[in-house]
Amino acid sequence: MTSFIRNQWYVAAYADEVGHRLFSRTVCGEPVLLWRTEAGEVTAMSDRCVHRRFPLSQEPGHLDGDRVVCGYHGFTYGADGVCVSVPGQQRVPRTARLWSYPVVERDSFVWVWIGDRELADEKRIPRAPWLDGSGWTVVRGMEPLAARYGLLVDNLLDLSHETYLHGGYIGTPEVAGTPITTEVDEAAGIVRVSRHMDDAACPPFYAESTGIRGRITRWQDIEYHAPCLYLLHSRITPVGAPPPEPDGSDPHAFHVEVVYAITPETDGSTHDFWAVARDFALDDDKVTDFLRENNRTVVLQDVVALDVLEEALAAEPDGYQELSINIDTGGLAARRILARLREEGASRTGATAAPVREPAAR
Ligand code: FES
Ligand SMILES: [Fe+2]
Repeated sequence: MTSFIRNQWYVAAYADEVGHRLFSRTVCGEPVLLWRTEAGEVTAMSDRCVHRRFPLSQEPGHLDGDRVVCGYHGFTYGADGVCVSVPGQQRVPRTARLWSYPVVERDSFVWVWIGDRELADEKRIPRAPWLDGSGWTVVRGMEPLAARYGLLVDNLLDLSHETYLHGGYIGTPEVAGTPITTEVDEAAGIVRVSRHMDDAACPPFYAESTGIRGRITRWQDIEYHAPCLYLLHSRITPVGAPPPEPDGSDPHAFHVEVVYAITPETDGSTHDFWAVARDFALDDDKVTDFLRENNRTVVLQDVVALDVLEEALAAEPDGYQELSINIDTGGLAARRILARLREEGASRTGATAAPVREPAAR
Protein backbone atom coordinates (compact mmCIF):
# COMPACT_ATOMS: atom_id res chain seq x y z
CA MET A 1 0.00 0.00 0.00
CA THR A 2 1.51 3.26 -1.09
CA SER A 3 1.23 6.53 0.75
CA PHE A 4 0.83 8.67 -2.37
CA ILE A 5 -2.03 11.11 -2.52
CA ARG A 6 -3.78 10.75 -5.84
CA ASN A 7 -6.01 13.22 -7.64
CA GLN A 8 -3.67 16.10 -6.99
CA TRP A 9 -1.39 18.42 -8.94
CA TYR A 10 2.33 18.01 -8.40
CA VAL A 11 5.34 19.92 -9.67
CA ALA A 12 7.23 17.60 -12.01
CA ALA A 13 9.91 20.02 -13.20
CA TYR A 14 10.95 23.60 -13.70
CA ALA A 15 9.65 24.79 -17.05
CA ASP A 16 13.16 25.35 -18.37
CA GLU A 17 14.19 21.79 -17.60
CA VAL A 18 11.80 20.63 -20.31
CA GLY A 19 12.83 21.20 -23.91
CA HIS A 20 12.56 19.45 -27.25
CA ARG A 21 14.23 16.35 -25.85
CA LEU A 22 13.11 13.39 -23.76
CA PHE A 23 13.21 14.03 -20.02
CA SER A 24 11.99 11.66 -17.34
CA ARG A 25 11.05 12.20 -13.72
CA THR A 26 9.23 9.89 -11.35
CA VAL A 27 6.27 11.50 -9.58
CA CYS A 28 4.33 9.54 -6.94
CA GLY A 29 5.93 6.35 -8.17
CA GLU A 30 4.91 7.02 -11.79
CA PRO A 31 7.67 7.49 -14.38
CA VAL A 32 6.64 10.58 -16.34
CA LEU A 33 8.11 11.44 -19.74
CA LEU A 34 8.20 15.17 -20.37
CA TRP A 35 9.07 16.96 -23.60
CA ARG A 36 8.11 20.00 -25.64
CA THR A 37 6.64 19.81 -29.10
CA GLU A 38 8.26 21.82 -31.88
CA ALA A 39 5.58 24.45 -31.18
CA GLY A 40 6.75 24.66 -27.54
CA GLU A 41 3.87 22.85 -25.81
CA VAL A 42 4.81 20.69 -22.83
CA THR A 43 3.58 17.10 -23.00
CA ALA A 44 3.57 14.55 -20.18
CA MET A 45 3.03 10.84 -20.70
CA SER A 46 4.05 7.54 -19.21
CA ASP A 47 7.74 6.81 -19.62
CA ARG A 48 7.02 3.16 -20.34
CA CYS A 49 6.50 1.75 -23.82
CA VAL A 50 3.24 -0.21 -24.10
CA HIS A 51 5.09 -3.01 -25.89
CA ARG A 52 7.60 -4.34 -23.36
CA ARG A 53 7.69 -1.45 -20.88
CA PHE A 54 11.05 -0.12 -22.03
CA PRO A 55 11.58 3.42 -20.69
CA LEU A 56 11.00 5.72 -23.64
CA SER A 57 13.48 8.24 -22.25
CA GLN A 58 16.22 5.63 -22.49
CA GLU A 59 18.64 5.87 -25.41
CA PRO A 60 18.52 5.10 -28.24
CA GLY A 61 14.88 6.20 -27.79
CA HIS A 62 14.49 9.66 -29.31
CA LEU A 63 12.23 12.34 -30.67
CA ASP A 64 11.56 12.39 -34.39
CA GLY A 65 9.85 15.76 -34.87
CA ASP A 66 6.83 15.54 -32.58
CA ARG A 67 6.96 11.76 -32.29
CA VAL A 68 8.61 9.58 -29.67
CA VAL A 69 10.40 6.53 -31.02
CA CYS A 70 11.00 3.72 -28.53
CA GLY A 71 14.64 2.71 -28.43
CA TYR A 72 13.91 -1.00 -28.12
CA HIS A 73 11.72 -2.08 -31.09
CA GLY A 74 10.59 1.22 -32.52
CA PHE A 75 6.97 1.70 -31.39
CA THR A 76 6.29 5.34 -32.26
CA TYR A 77 3.93 7.70 -30.43
CA GLY A 78 2.43 11.11 -31.14
CA ALA A 79 2.35 14.04 -28.72
CA ASP A 80 -1.00 12.79 -27.40
CA GLY A 81 0.57 9.44 -26.46
CA VAL A 82 -1.27 7.51 -29.18
CA CYS A 83 0.87 4.94 -30.96
CA VAL A 84 1.10 5.73 -34.66
CA SER A 85 3.34 2.96 -35.89
CA VAL A 86 4.67 -0.42 -34.83
CA PRO A 87 7.31 -2.54 -36.55
CA GLY A 88 6.47 -5.34 -38.96
CA GLN A 89 2.74 -4.68 -39.48
CA GLN A 90 0.46 -2.03 -40.85
CA ARG A 91 -2.20 -2.30 -38.19
CA VAL A 92 -1.57 -0.42 -34.97
CA PRO A 93 -3.46 -2.02 -32.06
CA ARG A 94 -6.27 0.23 -30.92
CA THR A 95 -5.20 0.06 -27.29
CA ALA A 96 -1.62 1.10 -28.05
CA ARG A 97 -1.51 4.44 -26.27
CA LEU A 98 0.54 5.84 -23.45
CA TRP A 99 -1.09 7.18 -20.32
CA SER A 100 -1.01 10.91 -20.85
CA TYR A 101 -1.06 13.29 -17.91
CA PRO A 102 -2.88 16.61 -17.70
CA VAL A 103 -0.03 19.12 -17.63
CA VAL A 104 0.07 22.87 -16.96
CA GLU A 105 2.98 25.27 -17.14
CA ARG A 106 2.61 27.94 -14.47
CA ASP A 107 4.80 30.21 -12.32
CA SER A 108 7.97 28.64 -13.81
CA PHE A 109 6.85 25.13 -12.83
CA VAL A 110 5.47 22.24 -14.85
CA TRP A 111 2.54 20.77 -12.92
CA VAL A 112 1.20 17.30 -13.67
CA TRP A 113 -2.03 15.76 -12.44
CA ILE A 114 -1.63 12.38 -10.78
CA GLY A 115 -4.98 10.65 -10.76
CA ASP A 116 -8.18 10.43 -12.79
CA ARG A 117 -7.93 12.71 -15.79
CA GLU A 118 -11.57 13.79 -15.63
CA LEU A 119 -11.05 15.21 -12.13
CA ALA A 120 -8.15 17.46 -13.16
CA ASP A 121 -9.05 21.12 -12.63
CA GLU A 122 -6.24 23.55 -13.28
CA LYS A 123 -7.96 26.22 -11.19
CA ARG A 124 -6.92 24.16 -8.17
CA ILE A 125 -3.21 24.66 -8.83
CA PRO A 126 -1.85 26.91 -6.06
CA ARG A 127 0.08 29.93 -7.24
CA ALA A 128 3.62 31.22 -6.69
CA PRO A 129 3.57 34.32 -8.89
CA TRP A 130 6.86 35.73 -7.61
CA LEU A 131 8.80 33.06 -9.45
CA ASP A 132 8.24 34.60 -12.85
CA GLY A 133 6.71 37.96 -11.98
CA SER A 134 8.33 41.33 -12.63
CA GLY A 135 9.85 43.08 -9.63
CA TRP A 136 11.42 39.91 -8.26
CA THR A 137 14.79 38.23 -8.66
CA VAL A 138 14.81 34.48 -8.14
CA VAL A 139 17.38 31.85 -7.25
CA ARG A 140 16.33 28.22 -7.20
CA GLY A 141 17.29 24.61 -7.40
CA MET A 142 16.12 21.07 -6.80
CA GLU A 143 17.77 18.64 -4.44
CA PRO A 144 17.02 14.93 -4.32
CA LEU A 145 15.93 13.86 -0.86
CA ALA A 146 16.23 10.22 0.26
CA ALA A 147 13.32 10.60 2.66
CA ARG A 148 9.55 10.34 2.52
CA TYR A 149 7.93 13.65 1.59
CA GLY A 150 6.08 13.90 4.93
CA LEU A 151 9.38 14.52 6.67
CA LEU A 152 9.99 17.59 4.51
CA VAL A 153 6.45 18.83 5.24
CA ASP A 154 7.11 18.46 8.98
CA ASN A 155 10.44 20.22 8.59
CA LEU A 156 9.09 23.22 6.70
CA LEU A 157 6.08 23.74 8.91
CA ASP A 158 8.19 23.97 12.05
CA LEU A 159 10.88 26.58 11.49
CA SER A 160 12.06 26.46 15.09
CA HIS A 161 14.65 24.05 13.70
CA GLU A 162 16.37 27.02 12.00
CA THR A 163 17.94 27.93 15.33
CA TYR A 164 19.63 24.55 15.69
CA LEU A 165 20.09 23.11 12.23
CA HIS A 166 20.75 26.37 10.39
CA GLY A 167 22.63 28.44 12.99
CA GLY A 168 25.06 30.81 11.24
CA TYR A 169 22.86 30.89 8.11
CA ILE A 170 19.20 31.67 8.80
CA GLY A 171 18.82 30.59 12.42
CA THR A 172 19.01 32.85 15.46
CA PRO A 173 17.83 32.20 19.05
CA GLU A 174 14.67 34.24 18.49
CA VAL A 175 13.23 31.81 15.94
CA ALA A 176 12.96 28.91 18.37
CA GLY A 177 12.17 31.33 21.20
CA THR A 178 9.11 33.00 19.65
CA PRO A 179 5.71 31.27 19.83
CA ILE A 180 3.71 30.62 16.67
CA THR A 181 0.11 31.09 15.72
CA THR A 182 -1.53 28.48 13.50
CA GLU A 183 -4.62 28.70 11.32
CA VAL A 184 -6.04 25.77 9.43
CA ASP A 185 -8.43 25.89 6.48
CA GLU A 186 -9.43 22.23 6.43
CA ALA A 187 -11.70 22.53 3.41
CA ALA A 188 -9.11 24.26 1.24
CA GLY A 189 -6.28 22.10 2.58
CA ILE A 190 -4.21 25.10 3.68
CA VAL A 191 -2.19 25.45 6.88
CA ARG A 192 -0.90 28.87 7.94
CA VAL A 193 1.78 29.24 10.59
CA SER A 194 3.04 32.66 11.65
CA ARG A 195 5.93 33.72 13.80
CA HIS A 196 6.49 37.46 14.23
CA MET A 197 9.76 38.42 15.91
CA ASP A 198 9.73 42.08 16.94
CA ASP A 199 13.37 42.41 17.88
CA ALA A 200 15.69 39.71 16.64
CA ALA A 201 19.30 39.19 15.64
CA CYS A 202 19.83 39.48 11.89
CA PRO A 203 21.20 36.19 10.53
CA PRO A 204 23.89 36.29 7.80
CA PHE A 205 21.33 35.29 5.14
CA TYR A 206 19.54 38.62 5.61
CA ALA A 207 22.45 40.78 6.82
CA GLU A 208 24.49 40.05 3.69
CA SER A 209 21.58 40.36 1.28
CA THR A 210 19.84 43.45 2.70
CA GLY A 211 22.84 45.27 4.19
CA ILE A 212 21.06 45.68 7.54
CA ARG A 213 23.64 45.63 10.32
CA GLY A 214 21.55 45.99 13.46
CA ARG A 215 18.65 44.05 14.91
CA ILE A 216 15.58 43.35 12.86
CA THR A 217 11.87 42.83 12.95
CA ARG A 218 11.39 39.49 11.25
CA TRP A 219 8.07 38.01 10.20
CA GLN A 220 7.67 34.47 8.95
CA ASP A 221 4.25 33.71 7.51
CA ILE A 222 3.92 30.18 6.17
CA GLU A 223 1.19 29.06 3.82
CA TYR A 224 1.20 25.36 3.02
CA HIS A 225 -1.10 24.25 0.23
CA ALA A 226 -1.29 20.50 0.67
CA PRO A 227 0.12 18.42 -0.72
CA CYS A 228 2.74 20.03 -2.94
CA LEU A 229 3.25 23.78 -2.52
CA TYR A 230 4.80 25.57 0.45
CA LEU A 231 5.18 29.34 0.65
CA LEU A 232 7.10 31.26 3.29
CA HIS A 233 6.40 35.00 3.18
CA SER A 234 9.36 36.55 4.93
CA ARG A 235 9.36 40.24 5.91
CA ILE A 236 12.46 41.96 7.26
CA THR A 237 12.94 45.54 8.50
CA PRO A 238 15.36 47.27 10.86
CA VAL A 239 13.78 47.40 14.32
CA GLY A 240 11.52 50.45 14.57
CA ALA A 241 10.64 50.74 10.87
CA PRO A 242 6.97 51.43 10.12
CA PRO A 243 4.58 48.50 9.67
CA PRO A 244 2.83 47.79 6.35
CA GLU A 245 0.42 50.52 5.16
CA PRO A 246 -3.34 49.97 5.52
CA ASP A 247 -3.55 49.49 1.73
CA GLY A 248 -1.15 46.55 1.95
CA SER A 249 1.87 48.33 0.50
CA ASP A 250 5.03 47.93 2.52
CA PRO A 251 7.74 50.26 1.24
CA HIS A 252 9.97 50.08 4.31
CA ALA A 253 10.48 46.34 4.33
CA PHE A 254 12.55 43.77 2.48
CA HIS A 255 10.46 40.86 1.24
CA VAL A 256 11.64 37.36 0.50
CA GLU A 257 9.28 34.72 -0.83
CA VAL A 258 10.62 31.25 -0.16
CA VAL A 259 8.86 28.61 -2.23
CA TYR A 260 9.14 24.84 -1.99
CA ALA A 261 7.46 22.28 -4.20
CA ILE A 262 7.41 19.00 -2.33
CA THR A 263 6.97 16.21 -4.85
CA PRO A 264 7.03 12.56 -3.79
CA GLU A 265 9.24 10.46 -6.04
CA THR A 266 8.89 7.08 -4.32
CA ASP A 267 7.65 6.09 -0.87
CA GLY A 268 11.09 6.90 0.49
CA SER A 269 12.33 9.74 -1.73
CA THR A 270 11.28 13.25 -2.65
CA HIS A 271 12.03 15.96 -5.18
CA ASP A 272 12.86 19.03 -3.10
CA PHE A 273 12.29 22.02 -5.38
CA TRP A 274 13.30 25.28 -3.69
CA ALA A 275 13.25 28.90 -4.78
CA VAL A 276 13.97 32.24 -3.14
CA ALA A 277 12.47 35.40 -4.67
CA ARG A 278 13.42 38.87 -3.38
CA ASP A 279 12.10 42.34 -4.09
CA PHE A 280 15.33 44.23 -3.39
CA ALA A 281 18.82 44.49 -4.93
CA LEU A 282 17.19 43.08 -8.04
CA ASP A 283 20.19 43.50 -10.34
CA ASP A 284 22.92 42.91 -7.79
CA ASP A 285 24.70 39.75 -8.91
CA LYS A 286 26.65 39.51 -5.70
CA VAL A 287 23.43 39.31 -3.71
CA THR A 288 22.04 36.78 -6.19
CA ASP A 289 25.14 34.57 -5.95
CA PHE A 290 25.19 34.87 -2.18
CA LEU A 291 21.54 33.91 -1.77
CA ARG A 292 21.85 31.00 -4.19
CA GLU A 293 24.83 29.54 -2.36
CA ASN A 294 23.57 30.32 1.13
CA ASN A 295 20.11 28.94 0.52
CA ARG A 296 21.40 25.83 -1.21
CA THR A 297 23.60 25.21 1.83
CA VAL A 298 20.56 25.56 4.09
CA VAL A 299 18.51 23.20 1.91
CA LEU A 300 21.33 20.67 1.98
CA GLN A 301 21.52 20.91 5.78
CA ASP A 302 17.87 19.82 5.81
CA VAL A 303 18.53 17.12 3.21
CA VAL A 304 21.34 15.61 5.29
CA ALA A 305 19.21 15.71 8.45
CA LEU A 306 16.12 14.24 6.80
CA ASP A 307 18.09 11.51 5.03
CA VAL A 308 19.42 10.46 8.44
CA LEU A 309 15.96 10.70 9.97
CA GLU A 310 14.47 8.55 7.20
CA GLU A 311 17.06 5.85 7.87
CA ALA A 312 16.37 6.00 11.59
CA LEU A 313 12.59 5.77 11.12
CA ALA A 314 12.81 3.02 8.53
CA ALA A 315 14.75 0.94 11.06
CA GLU A 316 12.12 1.40 13.79
CA PRO A 317 9.34 -1.09 14.31
CA ASP A 318 5.92 0.21 13.22
CA GLY A 319 3.96 2.22 15.76
CA TYR A 320 6.87 4.14 17.25
CA GLN A 321 5.89 6.95 19.57
CA GLU A 322 6.54 10.63 18.99
CA LEU A 323 6.02 13.42 21.42
CA SER A 324 4.58 16.65 20.06
CA ILE A 325 4.55 20.17 21.55
CA ASN A 326 3.24 23.59 20.58
CA ILE A 327 5.74 24.10 17.74
CA ASP A 328 4.27 21.03 16.02
CA THR A 329 0.75 22.44 15.68
CA GLY A 330 1.18 23.32 12.00
CA GLY A 331 2.88 20.05 11.14
CA LEU A 332 0.17 18.02 12.87
CA ALA A 333 -2.54 19.96 11.03
CA ALA A 334 -0.75 19.24 7.76
CA ARG A 335 -0.59 15.54 8.59
CA ARG A 336 -4.33 15.51 9.25
CA ILE A 337 -5.07 17.18 5.93
CA LEU A 338 -2.70 14.87 4.06
CA ALA A 339 -4.34 11.83 5.65
CA ARG A 340 -7.76 13.05 4.54
CA LEU A 341 -6.57 13.81 1.00
CA ARG A 342 -4.94 10.38 0.82
CA GLU A 343 -8.20 8.72 1.79
CA GLU A 344 -10.23 10.81 -0.65
CA GLY A 345 -7.76 10.20 -3.46
CA ALA A 346 -7.84 6.46 -2.90
CA SER A 347 -11.59 6.11 -2.43
CA ARG A 348 -12.50 8.14 -5.51
CA THR A 349 -10.45 5.97 -7.81
CA GLY A 350 -10.04 2.79 -5.84
CA ALA A 351 -6.51 2.95 -7.20
CA THR A 352 -3.29 3.10 -5.27
CA ALA A 353 -0.79 2.19 -7.94
CA ALA A 354 0.55 3.72 -11.12
CA PRO A 355 -1.65 3.13 -14.14
CA VAL A 356 -0.44 0.33 -16.34
CA ARG A 357 -1.61 0.01 -19.90
CA GLU A 358 -1.26 -3.56 -21.00
CA PRO A 359 0.25 -4.09 -24.45
CA ALA A 360 -2.18 -5.51 -26.95
CA ALA A 361 -1.49 -9.16 -27.61
CA ARG A 362 -1.39 -9.11 -31.36
S1 FES B 1 9.56 -2.03 -25.71
FE1 FES B 1 9.19 -0.29 -26.93
S2 FES B 1 9.03 -1.06 -28.89
FE2 FES B 1 9.36 -2.82 -27.68
FE1 LIG C 1 15.43 23.84 7.35
